[in-house]
Amino acid sequence: MRLLDDEALQRSSVVANNAMNRERGLDGVNSYARDLGFHPLDRLRPQLVEHGSAAWLDLCCGQGRALAQAARQAPDGLALVGVDLVDHFDPQAAGVDGLTLVTGSVSQWQPGRTFDLITCVHGLHYVGDKLGVLARALTWLSPGGMFAAHLDVASIRLADGTPATRLVRRLLRDAGVDYDARRRIVTRTGPAVLDLPLEYAGADDRAGPNYTGQPAVDSYYRPLRTGTRPDPVPPPRRAVAVDDRGVRVEHDGSVFDVAWHDVHRASVSRLVVEVAGIDHLELTVDLVYGHHLTIPDSDDGFAAAVAEFARRSGRAEPDLAHLRAGLDDIELWQQDA
Ligand SMILES: C[S@@+](CC[C@H](N)C(=O)[O-])C[C@H]1O[C@@H](n2cnc3c(N)ncnc32)[C@H](O)[C@@H]1O
Repeated sequence: MRLLDDEALQRSSVVANNAMNRERGLDGVNSYARDLGFHPLDRLRPQLVEHGSAAWLDLCCGQGRALAQAARQAPDGLALVGVDLVDHFDPQAAGVDGLTLVTGSVSQWQPGRTFDLITCVHGLHYVGDKLGVLARALTWLSPGGMFAAHLDVASIRLADGTPATRLVRRLLRDAGVDYDARRRIVTRTGPAVLDLPLEYAGADDRAGPNYTGQPAVDSYYRPLRTGTRPDPVPPPRRAVAVDDRGVRVEHDGSVFDVAWHDVHRASVSRLVVEVAGIDHLELTVDLVYGHHLTIPDSDDGFAAAVAEFARRSGRAEPDLAHLRAGLDDIELWQQDA
């Protein structure tokens, strides 16, 4: 596999693509509010009202239209910064009070302040070290500030080509970063140090179109073995059950019930990370409000839960004994759109 460094990636026709949608506005049909699932100004208003000032950083801002419109709609006190690799900003954004547009790569650019909102709308699809940008940006949040970025976790792979979808979702969750699998958006409130055991190895600009339909960039990482294994402790009792009421997960005495109307999708996959000694099956239950449950095959009731999801959608029960690692996941059930 030929992996590109940042310099080569930025020259690639996939990144310097004129057909990219760089024109999203703040709200309306082709907009940030629509693609993020929230209106950026709604997030900033409470801060503006309380403190008289707020700051929004938009990474991979394209033409900067959403920022320019926010500057016009919001009261004074809103500081807006947009960063994009390509100097193709909307002429109407030039000279707008409170708006700074920077030409540069989000992999290198560094702000001199913190922000109450940081967004990256369909920008990470074209970035090499997506997790590195995520880690840097999370440190730029003000206390209580919100981060939201589109991230297609299927575009993150281990250096041997294995999809790292499950691993990354788990690492992000453990680090307190939420992933909405339906919208493919990572969110976090408040600054965080994201120290993942993955080292960036390079990018592939020949990955083809991603879920947006546009050619995108896959990012490759080498797993790092860190620290020593802790002494084995008896695992807490965990169990899962799927029935007419929904999904019930029990974890060491606590019970978490999810009703069917809150379940978006269920899938099963085999997670293998040789370097970390991981090889097991996982049932992933994505919830409509963005969170997800990961249920390992060591949970009581795992196989019955997988079978019940498949039965309810009329699908064949997957052969768990022969599930191949490297297949992203096998869908068992999905809520009707
Ligand atoms: C699909 S466009 C989205 C633009 C804007 N967020 C919107 O929704 O209208 C992706 C943008 O990411 C920018 N981009 C790609 N790689 C970048 C990088 N390393 N640093 C900064 N911007 C980058 C591209 O130039 C492009 O403007």
